[in-house]
Amino acid sequence: MKIISSIEELRDQLRGQLRTAFVPTMGNLHEGHLSLMRLARRHGDPVVASIFVNRLQFGPNEDFDKYPRTFQADVEKLEKEGVYVLFAPTEKDLYPEPQEYRVQPPNDLGDILEGEFRPGFFNGVSTVVLKLFSCVQPRVAVFGKKDYQQLMIIRNMAKQFALPTEIIAAETWRAEDGLALSSRNGYLSETERAEAPMLYQILNQVANEVRGGNLNLSNIEQQAMQELSKRQWKPDYVAIRKRVDLQAPSAADLENQEALVVLSAAKLGNTRLIDNLEI
Ligand code: PAF
Repeated sequence: MKIISSIEELRDQLRGQLRTAFVPTMGNLHEGHLSLMRLARRHGDPVVASIFVNRLQFGPNEDFDKYPRTFQADVEKLEKEGVYVLFAPTEKDLYPEPQEYRVQPPNDLGDILEGEFRPGFFNGVSTVVLKLFSCVQPRVAVFGKKDYQQLMIIRNMAKQFALPTEIIAAETWRAEDGLALSSRNGYLSETERAEAPMLYQILNQVANEVRGGNLNLSNIEQQAMQELSKRQWKPDYVAIRKRVDLQAPSAADLENQEALVVLSAAKLGNTRLIDNLEI
């Protein structure tokens, strides 16, 4: 595996490649990331991964400085997956000057749910992803459904900018007890780790209520929030939304059996976890 940090060198290395499959990451790789690499391999060749902890998507009080950085272990994992190039730019490589041009997702998608609680997050994500796409020029790129809203925003961005990159969605990788794998799980204490799968259990309860025909969605959401709060979580949201645009479904949508997804974010101790479940 070639490890490349400069954009120019990356372009030289990938010149003439027409079927590149790309997986952008922020490192601290776990089995979920590796499943994205395997999916990428099924959709293209060579597979290119990136590791870059993107300052633009962290708020001033978020965990940019303490975000886990495990470069050597990550390299070993990617080598085992047969990744051809690891693009691992420094901040100076990717942002040699302040990144003033930005991608601003539309408010009705970028400022709801995660965007409401992490202002500027999707601006930072979209900007870095567009820039990484411009460096790697992939034919396909793989994103996990764990970050459901991110996946949708990137997909819409690729469509609206007519990018020649197809966005592939990967299923969420879960631990045996149901907890969605995430680099931030490493922040959890032993007791918190034992409690953490409750988020997924509650999403399942919500999904079962809806499947069972309960259409009082705001009541179901509130109950789920209360249940989390009772167990010492600090929920930001539990929201049942339309899969197509992440907006709240109207009565007519429910009647027409619109496909739904329940999304949630909640803090357990100091760790903020997100998860979702298609209903
Ligand atoms: O999902 C992530 O790890 C990040 O948001 C991404 C897509 C690599 C952009 O920094």
